[in-house]
Amino acid sequence: MPDEQMWQEFFDPDTILDSLGIQNLAGNIVDFGCGYGTFTIPAARRTIGIVYAIDIEAEMIHVTQEKARQHGLRNVIALQRDFSTEGTGLPERSCAYVMVFNILHAENPLTILTEAKRVLVVGGRVGIIHWNYDPTTPRGPSIHIRPRPEQCQSWLTEAGFTLDGTIIALPPFHYGVIGIESQ
Ligand SMILES: C[S@@+](CC[C@H](N)C(=O)[O-])C[C@H]1O[C@@H](n2cnc3c(N)ncnc32)[C@H](O)[C@@H]1O
Repeated sequence: MPDEQMWQEFFDPDTILDSLGIQNLAGNIVDFGCGYGTFTIPAARRTIGIVYAIDIEAEMIHVTQEKARQHGLRNVIALQRDFSTEGTGLPERSCAYVMVFNILHAENPLTILTEAKRVLVVGGRVGIIHWNYDPTTPRGPSIHIRPRPEQCQSWLTEAGFTLDGTIIALPPFHYGVIGIESQ
């Protein structure tokens, strides 16, 4: 991860959460790979449920939990965990929304999306954002491992989600796609 100040310059988190339908939720949210809590903190203001912020790095867990405390947000639970090998540890059908933000260049995207599906209630949604498939973006994974939006949609379908809408432009550097757990 770049340093936090630089990372924040790449996004308008509230606009992105609006675009992905993360508004006025009544259920729990999971943030897979919360990083600095860039999206965890605004998401926590958009649900009356809990936001589970999961990251493999102890520092990211500490930063996110501390930020929640400073903002007076009591509905954030930060968990240090490797979601690729251990899953989330959350009960099945316990969440209304899963955030998969800037992580789907991982080696095992289908494992991640299958775990997302497991924890979602019927009607729950998974939102994916990633860097545009464009080698000139100021950051982002190597273009060789960076997924195109159509690839993310294909993984969603393969994992058993129904696509919700089309590819969402999240300028200046990102796109989003949404899947619904409909079974
Ligand atoms: C590129 S950052 C994105 C952070 C955040 N989602 C955002 O968009 O601001 C990826 C984060 O995912 C975490 N991560 C990567 N693989 C992980 C895994 N298998 N389990 C838990 N966290 C992971 C990294 O430690 C890092 O903080």
